Amino acid sequence: MSVGIGSMDAAIDQAQIDAAARALEQGALVALPTETVYGLGADAENPAAVAAIYAAKGRPQDHPVIVHLAPGADLDYWASEVPDEARQLAAAFWPGPLTMILKRAARIPAAVSGGQDTVGLRCPSHPVAIALLQAFKGGRGGIAAPSANKFGNVSPTTAQHVRDEFGAAGPIAMVLDGGQSEVGIESTIVDLSRLASLGPVLLRPGQVSAEAIAAVIDQLPLAPDAAAPRASGTLASHYAPHTPVAMQDSTTLQATLAQLHAAGRKVALIHYSNLANLANLPAVHAAVRLAARPNEFAHALYASLRAMDTTGADLILVEAPPHGDAWLGVNDRLRRAAHGSCGIVHGLLNRQVPM
Ligand code: TXA
Ligand code: MG
Repeated sequence: MSVGIGSMDAAIDQAQIDAAARALEQGALVALPTETVYGLGADAENPAAVAAIYAAKGRPQDHPVIVHLAPGADLDYWASEVPDEARQLAAAFWPGPLTMILKRAARIPAAVSGGQDTVGLRCPSHPVAIALLQAFKGGRGGIAAPSANKFGNVSPTTAQHVRDEFGAAGPIAMVLDGGQSEVGIESTIVDLSRLASLGPVLLRPGQVSAEAIAAVIDQLPLAPDAAAPRASGTLASHYAPHTPVAMQDSTTLQATLAQLHAAGRKVALIHYSNLANLANLPAVHAAVRLAARPNEFAHALYASLRAMDTTGADLILVEAPPHGDAWLGVNDRLRRAAHGSCGIVHGLLNRQVPM
């Protein structure tokens, strides 16, 4: 039997799913496709396997990872308190790109949440992820899986990206290929662990918007505050390619391109407006045009950043996306990718091109 994966042509064999499930049960790491990004999975109830994820990613031990569950999983097994709002959100958005932070049940090892008393739970919708979750521990297990990239790097949206991150002889027993991730940016994270005292808190924006959450639970999630649990995806600098990234609105960007051209710099451009004349400037070393629609832009964003990162450009210049709720997730990821690059355009204009 094979598991179809929607519109994509690849198909994964049940034998491969079963082999991956057995590998996870034995404590190995398996990379799995999800609809958001690829995850680096391990048995959430095996602290040694979870420690292997941290080691492979080079991630600090105090950063919690998300536990992925099969459809219909028993939330009370994983969380010590399950408010009605959590059940309503699970019913509305699972399987799908929403992670909920709840109080962690005592039986769940602290390793999975970096020692915090909470746990992040999500049921992914990718058919391969669901098939794996159903085959793993008879559908009752949890797969701890951060994005399958080295700490701070851009998240992978294809199996090849995962292989590029970790190499063939790396720490991963198997990489399940489920085609290109549909959503393309990480799940929305909503913290419900302090619901009574604080209300819901949006820790990371994603395709499921705060407004969509509010429509289900009648409360608009707050922006993260200083007391929010640590989330590595919320570090100022994250999701970054190796080439510096700068974001500019279309008008500034046109002037910058001309100046960088005059300074002999190579620019890789990611844009969505019609900048056809600019793409012909010699300063534009490589360019990719994304759709001016938030979900399509998100779908292609990480693959585009990775592609532009390999062009040998001095700078990846991104046309700043529009503001507005639907663009929050994309703007959040781009801001983090560009963090610390403010001075870079100036530096590139002022310094001599090495001979
Ligand atoms: O879409 C996604 O969420 C992907 C796919 C693989 O499911 N996963 C993902 O994992 O993005 P990761 O580890 O790269 O980011 C998960 C975020 C981190 O910022 C982490 O700190 C936060 O979730 N997180 C997980 N458990 C948490 C908890 N108990 N409290 C606060 N934040 C938590
Ligand atoms: Mg990540």
